[in-house]
Amino acid sequence: DKGNYRHFMEKEIYEQPEVVSHTLAHYLDFANGVAKDFETPFDFGKIDRLAISACGTAYLAGLVGKYWFERHARLPVDIDIASEFRYREMPLSKQSGALFISQSGETADTLASLRYCRQEGLPIGAIVNVRESTIARESDGIFPTLAGPEIGVASTKAFTCQLSVLASLAVKAAAARGEVDAEGEKLLVRQLSEAPKLANQTLKLAGQIEKLARDLSHYKHVLYLGRDTNYPLAMEGALKLKEISYIHAEGYAAGELKHGPIALIDEQMPVIVIAPHDRIFEKTVSNMQEVAARGGKIILITDAKGAKHSTIDTLDTIIVPDVPEIISPIVYSLPIQMLAYYTAVFMGTDVDQPRNLAKSVTVE
Ligand code: F6R
Repeated sequence: DKGNYRHFMEKEIYEQPEVVSHTLAHYLDFANGVAKDFETPFDFGKIDRLAISACGTAYLAGLVGKYWFERHARLPVDIDIASEFRYREMPLSKQSGALFISQSGETADTLASLRYCRQEGLPIGAIVNVRESTIARESDGIFPTLAGPEIGVASTKAFTCQLSVLASLAVKAAAARGEVDAEGEKLLVRQLSEAPKLANQTLKLAGQIEKLARDLSHYKHVLYLGRDTNYPLAMEGALKLKEISYIHAEGYAAGELKHGPIALIDEQMPVIVIAPHDRIFEKTVSNMQEVAARGGKIILITDAKGAKHSTIDTLDTIIVPDVPEIISPIVYSLPIQMLAYYTAVFMGTDVDQPRNLAKSVTVE
């Protein structure tokens, strides 16, 4: 039941503060500021690498996870698109853990990758939304997302719940590997606990984003740029826009701009820059200058400080609340989902059932 919402996708976007809160609370003990003592298929303190595979949006969640595991837990992560992983016969260290991410738990390529790791003798964990799924059954342990059923074909709340699990696992790994002390762990847990409230505040940007979406719906191509965890988010923004509005979109690491995509920049292609005011913000500002110098129109998604320091003319600037770095990917997911959603609504596409797509891809 969609309730008062026009589409399941809209409803699922709005459910995010609540389901992210449930998911985080499943893994983190907020009162004591620690990761809970939940069961894991491998010991995050002992493995020497983590191999992650998934498809589509779930893959992009995994890519954010790589930044978190490597930054906070100093745990090296190999991440692959499952359709590549399953055939590339990657040499796997026996001390690795294997982690699969799938909303449905039925995606054929992800399942095949899991079975490859099983053959190689690796312990297997899976982040799934459907606990009775094949991937859940064939894993040694599951990390559930508590998103509830996701009906819209374009994944929204499952994605932010996958991010919530990955961030929680990164905290757990950081503690298990001695990369954070009790104070450090407490700080990360407290910061994560703020995600639902900040996500809720971010939803208030809907009116502004809806207006912007009307403009965006007139373009044929859109480029998304970001650095660090905003690089996977740039790809997620592009994926969301193309799948439901059918506007051609690409997501790039901002630093790659001058290695090719800059040739595309003109006034016909808006560039959406996802850039909170973080330690590499200035680098992204220089990318924006390169875009502006070529007549490109910029839509900047940032925070108040970023808006103040960017000094670049934008078509629009979306100002997200100030967020601690670890929850930035969760909170910044919302404006990019809303932008894709409202653009598709203006285009009049079938938002919940986009053409040529299925919710669960059980054939390769
Ligand atoms: C995009 C989207 C897809 C899925 C992908 C994996 O919005 O929904 O890219 O993320 O098909 O599906 P699961 O997570 O069920 O394995």
